[in-house]
Amino acid sequence: MYTSEELIKMVNDYIESTSVNRKPEGLYEPIRYVLSLGGKRIRPVLMLLAYNMFKDDPETIMETAVGLETYHNFTLLHDDLMDNADVRRGMPTVHKKWNANTAILSGDTMLIIAFQRVARCKEEKLRPVLDLFTQTVLEIDEGQQYDIDFETRNDVTEEEYIEMIRLKTSVLLACAVKMGAILAGADEEDASNLYNFGEKLGLAFQLQDDLLDVYGDPKVFGKAIGGDITSNKKTYMLINAMLRADEKQAAELKKWISAEHFDKAEKINAVTEIYNNIGIRELCEKKINDYFEQARLSLQKVNLPDEKKTQLQHFTDLMMKREK
Ligand code: IPE
Ligand code: IPE
Ligand code: MG
Ligand code: MG
Ligand code: MG
Repeated sequence: MYTSEELIKMVNDYIESTSVNRKPEGLYEPIRYVLSLGGKRIRPVLMLLAYNMFKDDPETIMETAVGLETYHNFTLLHDDLMDNADVRRGMPTVHKKWNANTAILSGDTMLIIAFQRVARCKEEKLRPVLDLFTQTVLEIDEGQQYDIDFETRNDVTEEEYIEMIRLKTSVLLACAVKMGAILAGADEEDASNLYNFGEKLGLAFQLQDDLLDVYGDPKVFGKAIGGDITSNKKTYMLINAMLRADEKQAAELKKWISAEHFDKAEKINAVTEIYNNIGIRELCEKKINDYFEQARLSLQKVNLPDEKKTQLQHFTDLMMKREK
């Protein structure tokens, strides 16, 4: 069996060797730019690890795995435009380096290239693979819309937040492992347990992303710190801070949320300070660990001997400790 480190290298080599070679430059240069900036490659690696639990030849599904990574990178292009984010993977985002039109059209093109790549799978698996992929893509759009809608709502519940991150983030990790299982010919029960595994893993993953957005090291994280605070994202942290705040803290949080003109650094510092006083970081870390544990339990249910699951569990353990 391959280790996750070997699979990451295979994914990066494959992406490099299949760089999109078409014109005009203005359309394709931004696509090559994003795809060349690295990133953790979590989704293709999850797909390959899941496949490799059942079959020995993950190199045969590389095109589909890289299709999923291409899709993920497309979501980042549009997400950065929507979130007004200037930096990703330590580099300027596409709408900053070029402009909004470029982010839109190069993004759309990436989405199509992603479908083209995902669909280059074994003919007899094409229908279930495309059904899963199209369903997932629709759900992610729904999650992204909720994320934006929630910016201007102040009554978002924790339950709504969890459903929003399930849609915008979890379903893609779940899709990755389930697609690996489908391509390997696993039965429905195993495919569905793997989907549940990916879903719980994805919830933990987005909670971590939100936590790192406040507490991460910008040099390691590769994104600006505090973006979620400045745009009033209704994260688990903000929702729970509002619930647990005393009168004075609640008034201050409300003041910052409704402020139209403010100094970004000042708002980020003030809100972070309230989080610190309430103990939001610890609360969020506990929630993250709960979901990692639930993911582990779903993986245990897959009907394979334990030694087949060690690589996927090991990769999950690495994700637990991530700082970027
Ligand atoms: C960022 O995804 C978007 C989220 C779903 C949190 P990653 O953290 O996987 O980003 P890269 O691909 O490693 O840069
Ligand atoms: C990511 O949510 C969800 C998708 C890209 C679909 P975020 O907006 O939190 O992701 P980052 O922090 O910009 O990577
Ligand atoms: Mg976003
Ligand atoms: Mg974003
Ligand atoms: Mg984020």
